[in-house]
Amino acid sequence: MPVKILLVNGPNLNQLGTREPEIYGHETLDDVLKRAQTAAKALKLTLECVQSNHEGEIIDIIHGAGKKYHGLILNAGAYTHTSIAIMDALLLLKIPVIEVHLSNIFRREEFRHHSYVSLASKGVICGLGSHGYVLALEALAGLLGKHGQ
Ligand code: DQA
Repeated sequence: MPVKILLVNGPNLNQLGTREPEIYGHETLDDVLKRAQTAAKALKLTLECVQSNHEGEIIDIIHGAGKKYHGLILNAGAYTHTSIAIMDALLLLKIPVIEVHLSNIFRREEFRHHSYVSLASKGVICGLGSHGYVLALEALAGLLGKHGQ
């Protein structure tokens, strides 16, 4: 049975490439997802990717993820710092969650230093650009392959 991973990107991440390139780089979301797909293939993981700008939709996606996937990678964008509702949805999941941020949120404004998503995540990767998604896939491959969940 293939190990299935869901990668969720939250608000404004569909604007990568043009959005504050000095912070987020020049890669588009498509570029980032292609890179993640290549890594997933090499790790023999099945990867599905979704992006949403809507908090409620992200919550619905998280609710559904436990039934279909073995692991979740989440970049919740600005909802990271505001959404108790997304944290509560993540806390319902029995599959491991890896939180990813392209930028180093700890070198930025103070309001980005707190993450509700972290309170429900197995691990956090930030500041390494799109390579963070590759590292998250490697982490999940290790967690799911060797030790189950
Ligand atoms: C982000 C960091 C957040 O603070 C910001 O609101 C984003 C992107 C990142 O990937 O670095 O939208 O999650």
